[in-house]
Amino acid sequence: MRKQIAAANWKMNCTYQQGEELLDNILGAQIALADHQQVVFAVPFPYLIMANSEVADEKNYFIAAQNCYNKKSGAYTGEVSAEMLHSIGIKYCVLGHSERREYFQESNSTLAEKLDLCLEYGITPIFCCGEPLSIREAGTQNSFVEVQLRESLFHLSEAVISKIVIAYEPIWAIGTGKTATSDQAQEMHAHLRGVLAKQYGPVLANTVPILYGGSVKANNAADIFGRPDVDGGLVGGASLNASEFIAIIKALK
Ligand code: PGA
Repeated sequence: MRKQIAAANWKMNCTYQQGEELLDNILGAQIALADHQQVVFAVPFPYLIMANSEVADEKNYFIAAQNCYNKKSGAYTGEVSAEMLHSIGIKYCVLGHSERREYFQESNSTLAEKLDLCLEYGITPIFCCGEPLSIREAGTQNSFVEVQLRESLFHLSEAVISKIVIAYEPIWAIGTGKTATSDQAQEMHAHLRGVLAKQYGPVLANTVPILYGGSVKANNAADIFGRPDVDGGLVGGASLNASEFIAIIKALK
């Protein structure tokens, strides 16, 4: 079975102490994960080492960075490289979240460079894609998201495409309480898998986990995760509440 992943995206929330307590409360629930299930916490940079040591003894629990820079090293004050993340044992990195695309002008080609650097250092990118409301209303979301994949991912070889995770996050559903219906999620995820299959063949396309993100909560996770092409979720707001996120983890297939 494909990997099923519940990924928490804390964004710029929590103090160090609050973050530690949140992790303690979630890990304290001692949810045993099946071999194909994983939980990932994307935490702010200053908490990566603490969070990584919290999950060190837990099977299939991992820590992610929320971003990295698109250069290997050098005079880039304030930035964090994939090599630095690797050097502290980080295994995942969220790339291309819509907030980064919007507020930090991240382009598909910049993201392609970030993906390469993560893969070079053995870090699994969680590559975010998704359309704004205007595109959804115009009905052109499929081609919009296809371009995001083509321009950021399709330079990758067959050998590495199965090492990435995709998160489909319709921008109109992020932090708005407006979730895509499970039908809308399934439809887009099937489309994305089809796009991957055209490029890499159906066998490889079937290995890539595609997470849904956008107002996932305890009360809608099972419905969304239950769809055949949805392999879990990237969860913002609800991941900051231990009992909500515990319920979301339990909703994984
Ligand atoms: P949300 O955020 O769950 O608060 O909508 C999801 C995300 O932005 O990753």
